[in-house]
Parts: sequence; structure tokens; C-alpha cells
Amino acid sequence: MRKALIVGKEAVAVEAEAEASLLSLLREPLLRKSVVRGCANGECGACRVMVNGAIFAACKVALRDVPDGATILTREDVDHEPDVTAVVRAFEAERPTRCRLCVGGLAVTAHHLTRPEALPSPPMAEAIDDALTHATCMCTGRGSLRRALHTALVRKP
Ligand code: FES
Ligand code: FES
Repeated sequence: MRKALIVGKEAVAVEAEAEASLLSLLREPLLRKSVVRGCANGECGACRVMVNGAIFAACKVALRDVPDGATILTREDVDHEPDVTAVVRAFEAERPTRCRLCVGGLAVTAHHLTRPEALPSPPMAEAIDDALTHATCMCTGRGSLRRALHTALVRKP
């Protein structure tokens, strides 16, 4: 099947089997290498992307289920945002030598938490816990992602 998509700001047309995963298509042919295959089961968050403003595990989304004309954002599209940069820096300050396969999903999670329509409710600390329900760092565990998000995003009064 063929679908028109907007990836970042670029209009693209994708042709693939209806069952092809969004993860595989984003990596090849769309070359979004921040979208990483970890568990391939919707649990680790390494393949997180935004589709039409909502967060998804790309490994669990088939091309047939992506709306025609959908806008997709990956780490490459949100990396420049100050809050995203701060979260990634906080993670890397704690874990400088690890594989970094979780960082693309972490960046997308940070973008999702700080998009204007997400604020001010629920409180950020609670939103972080919710956002990490199906996300972890495969090297160091969920706690390191949580600490990075808290360090950068939970503002003290
Ligand atoms: S690879 Fe998709 S959630 Fe783990
Ligand atoms: S640093 Fe390896 S998965 Fe997070």
C-alpha cells in the first residue's frame, strides 16, 4: 500500500506492505535512525514517535493503521527544543558511556511532556511517571530516565 505522510516538515510517500511496522519504515527508507528497535513489543520505548500529536511505540504500529497524511515526529525533529536538550543532557551526565539506544525515545517523551497543550495539568512529576509506563533504559533501568526528566522538567516553586 501507499501512504502520504509528513515526517518532520517533509512530505513523503511510503510504499510497503500494509503490515510493515512504522518502526521499520522510519529507519529504512526514511532514515530516522533515532527510532530504535529494542524489545519490539511496545514495552521499552526505544522506538517512540509522535503521530498526529500522540505518542506511540512505532514497533506496534502497522502502516495500515497510520492515517493518510499523518504528521510524524522523531527525535530528529525535537532535538533543538530547550527542554528536550536539557533532558538529554541530564541523562548523559549520569550515563555518559552507555549505548544511548533509549535516548531517541527519551527525547520524544520529553517533547510530549512539554508540548504547550500538555501544560499545566497534570503536575509534571505525575505526568513523568505516567509517561514512563512503557519506557525504560535497557542498560540502566527506568530510574535513570525518570531522574533525567525530573532534573530537567520538574520546576521547584
Ligand atoms: S522497540 Fe518498540 S517499544 Fe521497544
Ligand atoms: S543507555 Fe543503553 S538503553 Fe539506555
